[in-house]
Amino acid sequence: MYYGIIGGTGFEAPFSSAEEKIMETPYGETKLLFPEGKPYVFVSRHGTDHTIPPHQVPYRANIWTLRELGVTEVYGISAVGSLKKEYGPDTVLLCDDFLDFTKSRPTTFYDGDHEPAKHIAMDAPYDATLNRDFEAAFGEPLPRGVYVSTEGPRFESRAEIKFYASIGGDVVGMTNVPEVVLARELGLHYANICHVVNYCTGVSEEMVISKSEGVRARILKAIDQVLSSERSPRKPRIDLL
Ligand code: HPA
Repeated sequence: MYYGIIGGTGFEAPFSSAEEKIMETPYGETKLLFPEGKPYVFVSRHGTDHTIPPHQVPYRANIWTLRELGVTEVYGISAVGSLKKEYGPDTVLLCDDFLDFTKSRPTTFYDGDHEPAKHIAMDAPYDATLNRDFEAAFGEPLPRGVYVSTEGPRFESRAEIKFYASIGGDVVGMTNVPEVVLARELGLHYANICHVVNYCTGVSEEMVISKSEGVRARILKAIDQVLSSERSPRKPRIDLL
């Protein structure tokens, strides 16, 4: 199994028929779904019943499990708020960098307890090939942007949102750090597809919340198209300093 998908809010259990399996890791358990007839494995970030809050997602177990299965390429999918007027609800944006404002979650495998210290380059956290392949399958040019990862589970204050926009953020969510960081630490090629579901606090006076099943279905279909096509498996990529 070379491919994995990690689905967030709105993508808790998107397959009608999937075999479930629990994997034990040194970092806790991960529940895997193997959708019937598909060449990829699926992990529901918040659990299939959406009970796991952002700071309790077993990020390390999830990434460890994927690596143990032999997965080398992963698509994350995240519901996000938008910091920019031009990226309204139902915009699909591909991450090309992140800013980390999380506070209370383990963000590394190399914590000195499980693994000795290592420093991983973070100059290209998101995989450009996976981004391009997704964009081609989606069938339209998609913006790239900077994901601001907050601690949550609360939403942000107006002042926080002004600050995040002023330092270069494009979208805000609560989960992509540490997911992307851990994926990089284990050498997985990782991309994160953002589905804008609202404007962040104070960005627009309009209170619009996406309920679009249409966009979600298009995102999944495009990922399926990429991962079901003839691809040559890629080797893990480890950038140690
Ligand atoms: N802020 C943080 N996380 C989010 C938001 C938001 O506005 N929308 C969806 N996830």
